[in-house]
Amino acid sequence: MKRERTQRENWGTRFGFLMAAAGSAIGLGNIWRFPYLTGEHGGSVFIIIYLFCIAFIGLSIMIAEFAVGRRTSLASVGAYKSQNRSWTFAGVLGVLSGFFIMGFYPVVGGWSLAYMLKSLTGLLANPGATADIFNAFVAAPVEPLIWTVIYLVLNVAIVARGISGGIEAASKVLMPTLFVLLIVIIVKGVTFPGAGEGLAYLFRPDWSQVTGNTLLAALGQSFFTLSLGMGCMITYGSYLRKEENIPANALSIVAMDTMGALMAGLAIFPALFAFGMEPAAGPGLVFVVVPAIFARMGSIGPIMSLVFFAALTVAALTSSISLLEVVVAYLIDERGMDRKRATYLSSIVIMGMCVLSSLSMGTLSGVKLFGVGFFDFFDILTDKIFLAVGGMLLTIFAGWFMKKEDLKDELTSGGAVEFGLFELWYNLVKYFIPVVIGVFAIVGIAAIEQKSLMFFGLFLIFVLGLFSKKL
Ligand code: TRP
Repeated sequence: MKRERTQRENWGTRFGFLMAAAGSAIGLGNIWRFPYLTGEHGGSVFIIIYLFCIAFIGLSIMIAEFAVGRRTSLASVGAYKSQNRSWTFAGVLGVLSGFFIMGFYPVVGGWSLAYMLKSLTGLLANPGATADIFNAFVAAPVEPLIWTVIYLVLNVAIVARGISGGIEAASKVLMPTLFVLLIVIIVKGVTFPGAGEGLAYLFRPDWSQVTGNTLLAALGQSFFTLSLGMGCMITYGSYLRKEENIPANALSIVAMDTMGALMAGLAIFPALFAFGMEPAAGPGLVFVVVPAIFARMGSIGPIMSLVFFAALTVAALTSSISLLEVVVAYLIDERGMDRKRATYLSSIVIMGMCVLSSLSMGTLSGVKLFGVGFFDFFDILTDKIFLAVGGMLLTIFAGWFMKKEDLKDELTSGGAVEFGLFELWYNLVKYFIPVVIGVFAIVGIAAIEQKSLMFFGLFLIFVLGLFSKKL
């Protein structure tokens, strides 16, 4: 199945690559997930640990994923397999992560789509009612499902056609719009009386809040938000031209992504405290607080809210197509399917998972798998185990099973670009990161409530490992 280097299609432009990778990274993870995790894990301490994970783990892993992808010119499973068949399972684990993340991500994408319409139809009529509206909406049996289906169909339409044109055009306009709107919300938010408390919550650490669970949540979020630990960036790197400077590109993507998350935090928490809301309100946070801010902006509120959720939907789309693409690329490259068939087939199964996730917010809230509902099952399994283990495997693979000279050659584009920190990066990847992830995982699993789910995840990985050569 190995393709010749020269045949590999490449990104049209440097900007195209940067946008695709940044588009994959910036998504619901930044705007929806980051703020609510921050709220659930004590604010500032969570952010500090998260930033540590981004700087010392995430950035290096992103560089490593790009390097492995470009070196092998293969998508994730092929990249591992081409070097060593005992490692195939690490690639397959990534595909499984993408698949499971798609088991809940489109549900939230659907919420965002729905909120575009709701912005114009009474969502903002009463600033105090946004929490009730959200809770009633997600618990309903049919309405959120319809939006999830629409959202998924959008993904399918894009991925079935191959690397996308329209989505790129849309994100070039809407991603900057998202940033501008966040600034507008921040400026508005900090002027509410009582907003200062929210800033303190974001910037004044209370170390007594840290538990093993905080560590695992921050680590998992750093992988999730940067699209790491599942071969997504390996696949994107495989399309990257040899001349491109990998470390510089990775740094800009990480910087943009981190800025996006921090801005979302700044947009939400000052207003949240001003309105006397609860930081640990969970997954509804953006959908409750942001409309409550727009509701206080008078007649431009609804239109701003519409644009905000449109931008969020597009940000989500550029991320979920990268997830679906990993699954589809696997079915095409390793299972010999054609693109359309691979996309339709995987989406049907994904739809089934999404139905369960969506219903677990209401109708099926009593059904538990390893002690959690379906939505949490897919979320916790990927974010708290699979991605971190996937990242750890990648660093072990790059550090111990690839030649140092080859990596150096990749990262300096054959000597054409400087990478002065190569030795530091190499040592981080080879020694520091696997050990830190191992420690976080042990401390985290010891502290976490859902232990049986954790062991189930580890068991799955173990089984994949056993059958690696057959995959
Ligand atoms: N990073 C995206 C977000 O923050 C989600 C995502 C896309 C992702 N591709 C991924 C997460 C690969 C993990 C792995 O919304």
